Amino acid sequence: MVGRPTASALSQRGHQVAILSRGGTAGPAGTESFQGDLTTGAGLDKALAGVDCVVDCANVATMSRSTAVRWFSATTTLLGRLASEAGVKHHVVLSIVGVDKVPLGYYAGKLAQEQAAMHGPVPATVLRATQFHEFAGQTMDQLRFGRFALVPQMMTQPVAAAEVGRALAEVVEDGPRGRVPDIAGPRPERLPDLARQLSRARGDRRTVIPVRLPGRTGRAINSPAILPGPDAVLRGPTFAEWLPSATKP
Ligand SMILES: NC(=O)c1ccc[n+]([C@@H]2O[C@H](COP(=O)([O-])OP(=O)(O)OC[C@H]3O[C@@H](n4cnc5c(N)ncnc54)[C@H](OP(=O)(O)O)[C@@H]3O)[C@@H](O)[C@H]2O)c1
Repeated sequence: MVGRPTASALSQRGHQVAILSRGGTAGPAGTESFQGDLTTGAGLDKALAGVDCVVDCANVATMSRSTAVRWFSATTTLLGRLASEAGVKHHVVLSIVGVDKVPLGYYAGKLAQEQAAMHGPVPATVLRATQFHEFAGQTMDQLRFGRFALVPQMMTQPVAAAEVGRALAEVVEDGPRGRVPDIAGPRPERLPDLARQLSRARGDRRTVIPVRLPGRTGRAINSPAILPGPDAVLRGPTFAEWLPSATKP
């Protein structure tokens, strides 16, 4: 979701971009793709040859705390080691606003990833972003039962993945900075409302059913704890402004 716009932004700014994924999927025009796996290190030697900076936009789909912590710690540590051996000078990690405030298992994994990069052998930058505008669609597609989509009752201040890609390109050019100001969209929203707007715009007639997650986690994701603080950099478009571009055939 965010890897492709990041590759585009870097390429448009004149950088040579090498993309690594297990599928080896072709990226935007002008970029080079490599097949590899961050869990085993396979293929990383070729992808990292001659590279100055790595931007980690990999992901694992899990809500399990132990799986997330294990996966993000292991892949980030391995990437840091192999990048260091290849002479890489900057390790950029994309994290999420609120990972230290909201007790989601996945967020524990992202926090572990931040720490693995910060304590790794390559000087690092961590940029935290809020959910992307695309997140409403990702959630609806994951929790779909026939024409029903279960969507957590969650507050969010979403930002377009394309804007996060541009911000990551700027972070690359700025060099290692540790933790930099968070990036977020222009206004707070409720995730089920976004899902309904998306479903209407796509004309897929899905019924969105808001689901309240239990306990402390449910309360935290449905509260301002998950929203950006006053120091965040806010970037448009709003979800409503972005929507037409998302449903273009
Ligand atoms: N989605 C959001 O709203 C959001 C908001 C803030 C931050 N983030 C963070 O942004 C990052 C990217 O999220 P996303 O939504 O763009 O993810 P995504 O669409 O699921 O993309 C993940 C990418 O990682 C690659 N990948 C997965 N496992 C891999 C492995 N073992 N080795 C190499 N490549 C692997 C996948 O390609 P293959 O399957 O071909 O390997 C895919 O290209 C995540 O770290 C996430 O926490 C996401």
